Amino acid sequence: MRTRIAAWGRERLPLDVATELVRHKTVPVHRHSFAYYLGGMTLFLFAMQVGTGALLLLYYRPSASEAYESVQFIMTRVQFGWLIRSIHSWSANLMVAAAVAHLFSVLFLHGYRRPRELTWMSGMLLLALTLGFGFTGYLLPWNELAYFATRVGTDIMTGVPLAGDFLVRFIRGGPDVTGATLTRLFGMHVAILPMIATVLVGMHLWLVQSHGMSVPPRVEAEAERAGRPVPVWPFVPHFVMREAFGWTLALALLAGLSAYYPWELGVKADPFAPAPAGIRPEWYFLWMFQALKYVPAHVLGVEGELLALGGIGVFGLIAFTVPLWATGERSRAVARWGGVVALLIMAVLTLLAYTGGEGH
Ligand code: HEM
Repeated sequence: MRTRIAAWGRERLPLDVATELVRHKTVPVHRHSFAYYLGGMTLFLFAMQVGTGALLLLYYRPSASEAYESVQFIMTRVQFGWLIRSIHSWSANLMVAAAVAHLFSVLFLHGYRRPRELTWMSGMLLLALTLGFGFTGYLLPWNELAYFATRVGTDIMTGVPLAGDFLVRFIRGGPDVTGATLTRLFGMHVAILPMIATVLVGMHLWLVQSHGMSVPPRVEAEAERAGRPVPVWPFVPHFVMREAFGWTLALALLAGLSAYYPWELGVKADPFAPAPAGIRPEWYFLWMFQALKYVPAHVLGVEGELLALGGIGVFGLIAFTVPLWATGERSRAVARWGGVVALLIMAVLTLLAYTGGEGH
């Protein structure tokens, strides 16, 4: 009976491509193989976001008069609503952390080398998109903290040369943060960004699949010197089982965090109230926020904030184009040490933001 059903399925669903793919896919085994799990972890957390986000949509209402109340309803009245919302919020934060860890592991192990340039670039765009999800989702509960943080965050964008004003109006849906901003960010969060993310994740995975996993140059050289190839594992079942184990741990962590530290809602936003003290963005934007505090008002007649934004833009461009300029041994070392320095600077700025470094 089972074979008859299988034969019926095989005739109608041409799955040979998938089974061939699974049969031949391998993963190199060496001392840095743990890095190969980080992309999969990011993907798992992304899937969690899609699943829990869809459930939240069943009750959430995207208007200034109802958003806060609808989230309150989810947290207190909907069965397991508190769990779903808390998992969505915690998983969003873990996803940013996983994507950043994935990026740095690829950078340090030089996984961006030819022919993986587009894999790196699609990954960079995915990271930008992940931050975009964080930014657009933050305002949705329409609480005080999110309201004022969004006001500050979008104010900073005014400093972008030429396009600043347009950008701020485009995001706010008008000159100020209002119900129109909420509706607009909602549309971006649940429709526009997911659409782009689906295409990019598809492209990223297709490229990873086509090129296979890269082996770090040092491991490759060692294997060459020893006169034997780098050993590999079959993707199924060896790697997949370990990956599934990691996902189970992540799910346990998410459940634990959500049960012990349910995501707070705070008080409802009042656009006419004065901004409370200590407004700051989510932790992953803090380093930029802190950097802006240290630039002097004017440097050689140029507005300091403009210079800082320009600096962050150049930094982003250098990171985006790593595979194009880090092509030799020496430039790859520059990329690696540049990554270490960038990581240190971002960590110190974030720490300063938490400990109240005020700048000038
Ligand atoms: C939503 C975000 C992302 C998802 C879901 C994702 C997913 C994945 C997966 C599943 C893999 C294969 C396993 C692995 O090597 O870890 C991978 C590989 C890769 N990713 Fe990502 N990734 C994301 C973001 C990024 C970022 C931010 C970068 C860097 C800018 C990046 C660059 C790469 C590269 C170059 C590879 C190939 C590595 C190799 O062959 O050794 N990805 N990604």
